[in-house]
Amino acid sequence: MKTFAVLTSGGDAPGMNAAIRSVVRTASFYECRILGIRHGYQGMIDDDVLELTPGSVGDIIQRGGTVLQTARCEAFKTPVGLAKGIATLQKHGIEGLVVIGGDGSFRGAYALAQYGIQVIGIPGTIDNDIPGTDESIGFDTAVNTAVEAIDRIRDTASSHDRTYVVEVMGHRSGAIALSVGMAAGAASILIPEEPQDPDRVLAQLNKARERGKKHPIVIVAEGAACAMDVGEFLRNHIASEVRVTVLGHIQRGGSPSARDRILGGLYGTEAVRLLLEGMTNHMVAMCGARVTAVPFTEVFDRQHEANLFYHRIADILAV
Ligand code: F6P
Repeated sequence: MKTFAVLTSGGDAPGMNAAIRSVVRTASFYECRILGIRHGYQGMIDDDVLELTPGSVGDIIQRGGTVLQTARCEAFKTPVGLAKGIATLQKHGIEGLVVIGGDGSFRGAYALAQYGIQVIGIPGTIDNDIPGTDESIGFDTAVNTAVEAIDRIRDTASSHDRTYVVEVMGHRSGAIALSVGMAAGAASILIPEEPQDPDRVLAQLNKARERGKKHPIVIVAEGAACAMDVGEFLRNHIASEVRVTVLGHIQRGGSPSARDRILGGLYGTEAVRLLLEGMTNHMVAMCGARVTAVPFTEVFDRQHEANLFYHRIADILAV
């Protein structure tokens, strides 16, 4: 009987539990033993390991966060930390590992693979900034959560004729901002992948006002600018009242959308199937509408690209 393990690493993302459930149940379907490592690589260092069964992952598909908990672990990047992690895997007879997280988490897996551990990654981050996959687990929920929040903000914006600047997450990526901007009907979207041009924002707001829009929404990706600064700039340049809202971590929590639960299911099954095929150092990915696998080296070498097409369309639709 093969023994595999699963961990979640980096920032939590809604749908990670669906992926854990899928890994555990698929492993069990193929009569493999499956262990969970708590707190990501920190738990690997600390030997924080538990046995998982199909029953133990019941009633988690609808829950946000990760039942295995997670961490961003600097210690694992050191030779001592890595050696402790390997010792834990050896102690439990773990032959293959599924890592649910972002590309930083996959680098940890890649390091383990150099010591003969089979590793497969599942893209899990709200940022959707992992090269090689169209979708990462958590993105869809985060976008929906932000749009729902902005719909509420719009009620106040329209009641008071205010301009709202809303900052969304995304680390260095504008993916959340672009999707949220499209779905929330933003007058202007600022993303890190394009140069910041305050005059462009002003022109967009003025154009919107000219056609009668009195409560425009400006979406700022956290990696593009500080929303407070954008708000201050606008206060000095436009007549309307300006308010700033930073959505922050509410975008990361909450029950996963149907899409993120489905992604978790698909990715988890594929990850275990790849381990059983003897594959290693790959990330499962969505390409078009097809689940596929991408070598870690490609994930590391490529740059995440923003969907600038969305930006152009959002601009057209704003005026
Ligand atoms: O990677 C997910 C993410 O939420 C990013 O969007 C954000 O920049 C970062 O994590 C925030 O990290 P922390 O929760 O450690 O503040």
